[in-house]
Amino acid sequence: MRKIKIKKDVWPLIESVIIIGTETEDQRPNFLTCSWHSRVNQKPPQWGITIDHRRYSLDCIKRNMTFSINYPGPELVKETDYCGIYSGKNIDKGSLFTIFHGTLSGAPMIEECMLNIELEVKRIIELESDSLIIGEIVNAYSDERYIIDDRINSEHAESFFLSYPDFNYYTIHRHIGKAWQIGRKVK
Ligand SMILES: Cc1cc2nc3c(=O)[nH]c(=O)nc-3n(C[C@H](O)[C@H](O)[C@H](O)COP(=O)(O)O)c2cc1C
Repeated sequence: MRKIKIKKDVWPLIESVIIIGTETEDQRPNFLTCSWHSRVNQKPPQWGITIDHRRYSLDCIKRNMTFSINYPGPELVKETDYCGIYSGKNIDKGSLFTIFHGTLSGAPMIEECMLNIELEVKRIIELESDSLIIGEIVNAYSDERYIIDDRINSEHAESFFLSYPDFNYYTIHRHIGKAWQIGRKVK
């Protein structure tokens, strides 16, 4: 098979979509949609998220040194896209969801999401256009209906993905919306 050189600015072909929770300077919850993230360390459990230097949420995370990770299901695709289009600098994204808190301050979590994780920032690596933030998991939560033996059962708790380069949202089985479009209006 002949290989052809393509544009080098490629992304992973599928990325799982999460919502990062932070708190603003005036103690408002704010949420940012994130697809550049991964579990990065086994013991202690840590997670890496990559946040663009221009994001309002980045200032909030650096100030609080905490954040939350929330896994939305397909029923939250519009709200998730909305949180990825509009900045908390200008609008209140906190009112989209029912909020709860764990033990950390500055890390509001979304009740409607199937998996919630609160994290403490351990390291920030400054890259050219983004900050790679490594957070350590302090607590994780899920809904009673998804839990088997203290762990979330991913067969019943369905998350969703962003596909590249067409920027669509899919669950494992179906297309559920166009990214940066379906959430332009949530109500
Ligand atoms: C599907 C999707 C994935 C995104 N992934 C990231 C990401 O990994 N890192 C990032 O900095 N911005 C990402 N964004 C963009 C931010 O979510 C967006 O700029 C958001 O409005 C920033 O909110 P804030 O200004 O309130 O922090 C993504 C947006 C969408 C729609």
